[in-house]
Amino acid sequence: MSKENSKLQDLTAENLTRHVIKTCTSNVSNERTTELISGLIQHLHDYVREVQLKPGEWEAGWQYLTETGQFCTPDRQEMVLLSDVLGISALVDTINSAQARSSIATESSVLGPFHNDADVLENGASIGSEGVIGEPMLIHGTVKSTDGEPIQGATVDVWETNGNGFYDMQDPNRDGPDCRGIFRTDEQGRYYLLGVKSVDYNIPNEGPVGKLLKILDRNVTRPAHVHFQLRHPDYLDLTTALYSSESDHITTDPVFGVKTSLVKDFQKFDRLPEKVLGYDLRSSPLAQPESVAKNGIWSLEHDFVLLRK
Ligand SMILES: [Fe+2]
Repeated sequence: MSKENSKLQDLTAENLTRHVIKTCTSNVSNERTTELISGLIQHLHDYVREVQLKPGEWEAGWQYLTETGQFCTPDRQEMVLLSDVLGISALVDTINSAQARSSIATESSVLGPFHNDADVLENGASIGSEGVIGEPMLIHGTVKSTDGEPIQGATVDVWETNGNGFYDMQDPNRDGPDCRGIFRTDEQGRYYLLGVKSVDYNIPNEGPVGKLLKILDRNVTRPAHVHFQLRHPDYLDLTTALYSSESDHITTDPVFGVKTSLVKDFQKFDRLPEKVLGYDLRSSPLAQPESVAKNGIWSLEHDFVLLRK
């Protein structure tokens, strides 16, 4: 009998978890890796014991995860969506958010699965490309430090859906960036651009995540919002979003991203607000000056506050 066999231990529901954790971590020197894998095994095993998981249920579970992974493409991240609807993305965001511990800094929100590379644009430009649909909306404000100093040169990465509720990568009629762009704050910390009035949209629900939400009879509609990611070398990165107060889904966001401080009133102006200068409406396929004069324009204004590193 070999030395290994002499240590053979019959495994039971009581000692199996301890044995598996030891097997997985005894050759690992990195403390964080040990902590992560030990905790994962412990909680998964506890779950199996707690709900007394049946073999058929276990099979349905791994088949579901297989299906979810197989559903992913470069333009469709079903695993992130699953994390979002189970509140894991929101929880990771919350426990790691330095902004949540500040009463002044702008709060963070979930990244979501639709961030993508975008062109760097001049302040005042439109993020809508040829064929963009929806109502025009000015998106503008400042980026400041917690002591009120304007932050020059911060990048403001903005993305939202078209007026039809689709991000560019979801829309079969789009083959390039649309409704996304990166701006840089001026010497007064200002950013300003022309976007589309945000609309409520359904998260993709024809796949495995949609199947789960249907079983749970859950809302699939996100409240209208614009995503932002702000960066500056001297300040902490901020990923956040601003949500429309007029949405009927503000309290039932399927990905749990809404926070009170991020809910905004979208204003309607009969013409361009005088205090916001520099918009180049002639470059926009959506809002020609004549159209704005006739139909007015929406405005979303927000001053972001970043935490210094
Ligand atoms: Fe979104």
